[in-house]
Amino acid sequence: MIETTTFMTSKPADWKRTHTCGALRKEHVGQTVRLCGWVANRRDHGRIFFVDLRDRYGITQLTIDTERTGEGSALFEICTGLGAEDVISVAGVVQPRMAGQENKERATGDIEIHVTEIEKLSPAEPSPIDLHDDSETAIERRLEYRYLDLRRAPLQKALVFRSRFVLAIRRCLESLNFVEVETPILTKATPEGARDYLVPSRVHKGKFYALPQSPQIFKQLCMVAGLDRYYQIARCFRDEDLRADRQPEFTQLDVEMSFVDEDDVLEVLETAVQAAFRDVMGIELQRPFPRMDYREAMEKYGLDKPDVRFGLELVDVASEVKDCGFQVFTGALERGGRVRALRVPGGAAWSRKQIDALGTLAQDYGAKGLAWMKVADDGSASGPAAKWFEGEALQRLLAKISVESGDLVLFAADTEAVTSRVLGELRNHVGNQLGLRDPNTFAFVWVLHFPMFEWSEEKQRWQALHHPFTAPRDWDADLNADPANVESRAYDLVLNGWELGSGSIRIHRRDVQERIFDFLGLSKGEAQEKFGFLLSAFRYGAPPHGGFAMGIDRVVALALGQTSIRDVIAFPKTTAAACLMTKAPSPVTQEQLDELAIASTAKQVEATE
Ligand code: AMO
Ligand code: AMP
Repeated sequence: MIETTTFMTSKPADWKRTHTCGALRKEHVGQTVRLCGWVANRRDHGRIFFVDLRDRYGITQLTIDTERTGEGSALFEICTGLGAEDVISVAGVVQPRMAGQENKERATGDIEIHVTEIEKLSPAEPSPIDLHDDSETAIERRLEYRYLDLRRAPLQKALVFRSRFVLAIRRCLESLNFVEVETPILTKATPEGARDYLVPSRVHKGKFYALPQSPQIFKQLCMVAGLDRYYQIARCFRDEDLRADRQPEFTQLDVEMSFVDEDDVLEVLETAVQAAFRDVMGIELQRPFPRMDYREAMEKYGLDKPDVRFGLELVDVASEVKDCGFQVFTGALERGGRVRALRVPGGAAWSRKQIDALGTLAQDYGAKGLAWMKVADDGSASGPAAKWFEGEALQRLLAKISVESGDLVLFAADTEAVTSRVLGELRNHVGNQLGLRDPNTFAFVWVLHFPMFEWSEEKQRWQALHHPFTAPRDWDADLNADPANVESRAYDLVLNGWELGSGSIRIHRRDVQERIFDFLGLSKGEAQEKFGFLLSAFRYGAPPHGGFAMGIDRVVALALGQTSIRDVIAFPKTTAAACLMTKAPSPVTQEQLDELAIASTAKQVEATE
C-alpha cells in the first residue's frame, strides 16, 4: 500500500529542487533551499537525524532536529522510516557546520541543511548490491543490477568523463570541417576479421542483414560522394572472443579524409586526442606523437602494440649462443628460428615460484619452454641456461643483453613469431611486476608500415593484415612476387600497450582493388557479390583517400586508468556476450521465428555436443 502521508503527496511545484546536492557552499548560508536525491545513509541520534543526501553532483548533509516538531510529528515519522536509497525531497535552511565538524573531502563539507520539511518521493527496498565506491559485490551481480551499480561514484564519473571526452573530440573535428554522417546499422557484412552479427529479414525470407563491424565501406563511399572530411562516433558489432579490451558492441571514432597522405590523417587524430586530453583532463600531450616502424616494434618489443613507458627491449642473442651446445638454442637457430632474451632487472631475487609462473605464461603464449639464468653479484650465472656458458662466452652473452648483477635473464628459442609474442607478453608482465607501467603516464606511439598480408595457417592462404581496402606502399608492386614483403600504408595508434586504433591510406583504383581481392582468393563473382557497389563507385571518380578508427571505449578506459573497457560502458556485456540485466540474448516465440522463416537447430546442437 502506498503511504499516502509520505509518498508524493504534493504537486511537483512543491518538491522541485532549487539546487543539486553538490552545489551549496558557505556563501549560501541563510538561504532556504530545496534538494532532491537518494538517502546515502542515515545516522540516528535520538531525536536528531543526520542524512547524507546524494545525487550525481555530490552529497549534502541534512540535519533534521525533530525536537521542535514533537514526537509523532510527520517529520519524525518520515525520518524514522527513512531507508538507504529512498528518494526524498527536503526543504530547509543552509547553515555552517559546527567548528571542527567540517568535511574537507567534500565540496559541500562546510555546510549542512537544517531541514524543516521532508517528503519521500519514492521508497527503496534494500539494495541487492553493495553501493560503496569499492563495492564488494561480485561483478555478475552488479551487472544484473547495473542501474544500481551505476549509482556508484566511480561509474558516474566514468560516464560523465566519457560524454565530455567525446564532446571534445566532436568539437575539435567540427572545427576542422569534418561532417558527422550516420551510416546504416542494418547493412551487409564488412570484413574486419570477426564474425558478423546477422539480422534476419522478414520481408526477404532467408536473407540477412549484417550489423556493421565498422562503417569502413560507407565512409569510403562518403569520400566518393565528395564529402571530403567524414567522421562518426560509430557503433560497431563483432562476434569475437571477448577480453578486457573487447566487447561485442563498441564505439569507434571513425574518420575518413580525401586527398591526403599518412601525415594528414595522423595529424588530425593527434589533434583530436590532444584536444580531448586537454579539455577533459587538463593534460597537455606533446605532439607529434613518436612514430615507430612495425619492424622496429616487433624487434624491440615483440608486439605491434608496444608499451613504451619502459625500456627492457628484447635482445637477439643468436651470434652469442650459436656455439653454446645447448640444443634448445642451437636447434632453433638451425631450423631458421631465433634466440632472443629479455632482461629482468633485480630478477635474481625472484623466487622459483615466480619464475615458474613466467614459464607457465610463456607456454600460454606458445613457447615450448622458458630458459633462464640469474646473475649474482660476483658476476656468476645460475639456472637452466647458465651451464652452457662460461668464461668469455658468458661475458659476451651478458654484455650483449646489458645484464647487471642481480638480474634475471629470460630466453626464448623458437620461430621469429613465437619468440616475439612470448617475450613481448612476458615483457609486459615483468613491467607490471616491477611497477614500470604507471597508469598516470600516457605513452602514445604510432606504428607504421605494417605488412600488407599475413599467412593464415588455419585457412592456408594469405589474408589482409588490416583489411582488403588498405593500399600497398607501392601501387604497382608485383603481389605475386613475395606477399610476405609487401608493405602496406596501414598505421596503428598505440597507448600504453593497447591498440587504440588503426587506419590506412586506401586503394581508390578499381584495378588495384580487384587485384587485391583476387590475390586474397576472392573470385570475380564473389568480389562483385560482396563489394560490387564499392567497385562500381570507383568507376565514377574516386578521390585518393585514407582514414582511421579509434576505440572510444579503450581510450576512455586508459585515460581513467581502468583495466577493463566494461568500466566505461553503461550497459556492458559479459565475456560470454550476455547482458545479465536484460537477459539478452533470449529465446523468441515460435511465432516470431515462423514470421522470419527461421527454425532453430539449437536443441540438436546441444544434443550433439
Ligand atoms: P580496427 O578493426 O582495427 O579498424 O578497429 C579500430 C579500433 O576499434 C577498437 N575495437 C574494439 N574495441 C572494443 N571491443 C572490440 N571488440 C573492438 N574491436 C575493435 C580498437 C581498434 O583499434 N575500419 C577499420 C579502421 C580504418 O581502417 O579506418 C577498423 O575498424 O580500439
Ligand atoms: P634442460 O633441462 O637442460 O633440457 O633445459 C631445458 C630448459 O630450456 C628448460 O628451462 C626449458 O624451460 C627451456 N626451454 C625448452 N624449450 C625452450 C624454448 N623453445 N625456448 C626457450 N627455452 C626453452
